[in-house]
Amino acid sequence: MRGRKACQVRQQPQVLELPDGASRCKSTGQITYQGLHGMRILVTGGAGYVGSHAVRRLMAAGHEVWVYDDLSRGHAAAVPEGRLLVGSLCEQQCLIDVFQSHDIEAVMHFAALTLVAESVADPLLYYQNNVCGSLSLLSAMRRCGVWRLVFSSTTAVYGAPQQQPISEDAPRQPINPYGTSKLMVELMLEDAAAAYGLGFAALRYFNAAGASPAGDLGEDHSPETHLIPLVLHAAMGRRSHVTVFGDDYPTPDGTCVRDYVHVEDLAEAHLLALERLQPGQGLKLNLGTGQGYSVRQVIEACRRVTGRPIRAEVGQRRPGDPASLVADPSRAKQVLGWTPHYTDLDRIVETAWRWHRSHPQGYGQ
Ligand SMILES: NC(=O)c1ccc[n+]([C@@H]2O[C@H](COP(=O)([O-])OP(=O)(O)OC[C@H]3O[C@@H](n4cnc5c(N)ncnc54)[C@H](O)[C@@H]3O)[C@@H](O)[C@H]2O)c1
Repeated sequence: MRGRKACQVRQQPQVLELPDGASRCKSTGQITYQGLHGMRILVTGGAGYVGSHAVRRLMAAGHEVWVYDDLSRGHAAAVPEGRLLVGSLCEQQCLIDVFQSHDIEAVMHFAALTLVAESVADPLLYYQNNVCGSLSLLSAMRRCGVWRLVFSSTTAVYGAPQQQPISEDAPRQPINPYGTSKLMVELMLEDAAAAYGLGFAALRYFNAAGASPAGDLGEDHSPETHLIPLVLHAAMGRRSHVTVFGDDYPTPDGTCVRDYVHVEDLAEAHLLALERLQPGQGLKLNLGTGQGYSVRQVIEACRRVTGRPIRAEVGQRRPGDPASLVADPSRAKQVLGWTPHYTDLDRIVETAWRWHRSHPQGYGQ
């Protein structure tokens, strides 16, 4: 971490003990906590799209939050004043320093490279950053006795499943290095839970979408690959048209169907998952609405919301694009008590449009 001195490493615990403030029920073995508000939480990747919304939600819930991000893909402007620690996941000693100097109790792990095409072109970059980076983070957590972790996983761990909607029991068969890198981290988490008492939640998001309704936080990826921002860029004249990759899929209008989940609903699920972590146990949950929308339906929604004509051109299918990816979110509802607030596509697009209109160049330089 730039500008900080590494400090001494604490005694390494083998198996984590029952944490302060926790009690175990004799009959069920369940652990309950008093007052999970006011925890000290490190958010890796908190300068990125989903992480920055989670930071805001955690702070609103009374937690003390620091962001750890190398800013390779994120934006300092998305992080609240005085909360950003610039460093890479791969710098393990810096992570240890942060855990110790800030007395961190829990980690939310968003930091990753996320572009499927880039992962196909340069798979080792993805294994280095996403897998080795997560290994470094887990090792630092173990050395510092931090046992709570909420991890950003993805529908990409399922690959192209036969059955829709997709439940957590669907086989994990990723079809690109990005998805494989996320599956490898899930496998590490499972083993670390069994061996060291890590308590984790792997939240498998479907398509994150929308922005803070206040219009001050939003999606700013470069290059942008997500459909809603691309269509809104076309609405704003930042691009001439949007390309529909294939219109001959076995879906009602021939274009691919995806499940769009609002970024604030994702943030809420993270908060709920944090409160349900148990040492030595792992939760693996799908986060989607259970409702799929086709590419054409998304473009129509953007036309309605913006009131602007948006040119769409049909192009070739992209290799490895499954026809449909829709979540069965019932387990997240049951385990977390989580219900997405945004179930209407137009409302999701409205929040994204507010962000894009007020930030035509994203966060800028
Ligand atoms: N956006 C989606 O639709 C979606 C869907 C499924 C899963 N996810 C997962 O959610 C997480 C967040 O996605 P996002 O869209 O917000 O991505 P993002 O690119 O906006 O944010 C990722 C952040 O991680 C940081 N980062 C990357 N590598 C790092 C490293 N080695 N050390 C420190 N910081 C590092 C980047 O600078 C960036 O700020 C990712 O793990 C992604 O795989 C996202």
